[in-house]
Amino acid sequence: MKTIVVYTSQTGFTRRYAGWLAEKTGADLKDLSEAKKMDFGGYDAIVYGGWACAGNISKLSWFKGNLAKWEGKKLAVFCVGGSPMESPDIQPALHKLFTEEEQKKVGIFYCPGGFDYEKMSAPSRMMMKMFIKALKAKKDKTPDDEEMIRMISGSYDISDPKYIEPIISYLAGEVQ
Ligand SMILES: Cc1cc2nc3c(=O)[nH]c(=O)nc-3n(C[C@H](O)[C@H](O)[C@H](O)COP(=O)(O)O)c2cc1C
Repeated sequence: MKTIVVYTSQTGFTRRYAGWLAEKTGADLKDLSEAKKMDFGGYDAIVYGGWACAGNISKLSWFKGNLAKWEGKKLAVFCVGGSPMESPDIQPALHKLFTEEEQKKVGIFYCPGGFDYEKMSAPSRMMMKMFIKALKAKKDKTPDDEEMIRMISGSYDISDPKYIEPIISYLAGEVQ
């Protein structure tokens, strides 16, 4: 099965997961800017990885915009975010980004990445600063809120190659 992994990454976590996936599956690996110029006709499977941004997946519109063209191919999306794998909000939030029809055609996965404030763009850093400020100002903060403030106030890395295993199984046709 000829597979390609396309990714968008700002600070490197999604690129790292895409690289692990390509290495493990023997897939081609392309940054979205290069992939946009390509013809995907020769691929049996297309995987797109984008980072979580305010409840969305960066550049998911590119992937969705091509779905009709990719009828019959094995398709998957993985989202890399700062939330830990155990976070209960992840799966419902991710599935909300896809229609029921799209969910039948696309395998949807999450991989925890982290935060790297040194590599982050100035606008992203500013958005995070505002988000943390709003969270700190919240009345009746839950323990989860407190934990989130503590976590996202500095850089951290919770990425691990073990999180690509479900994507590999899906591509191999074992589970969805
Ligand atoms: C502006 C902004 C919004 C973000 N929103 C989310 C989010 O909604 N959920 C989440 O889990 N992580 C969120 N993150 C964290 C990133 O998805 C995380 O740092 C990810 O590992 C970045 O991937 P990259 O290194 O490939 O750019 C956000 C980060 C920024 C800068």
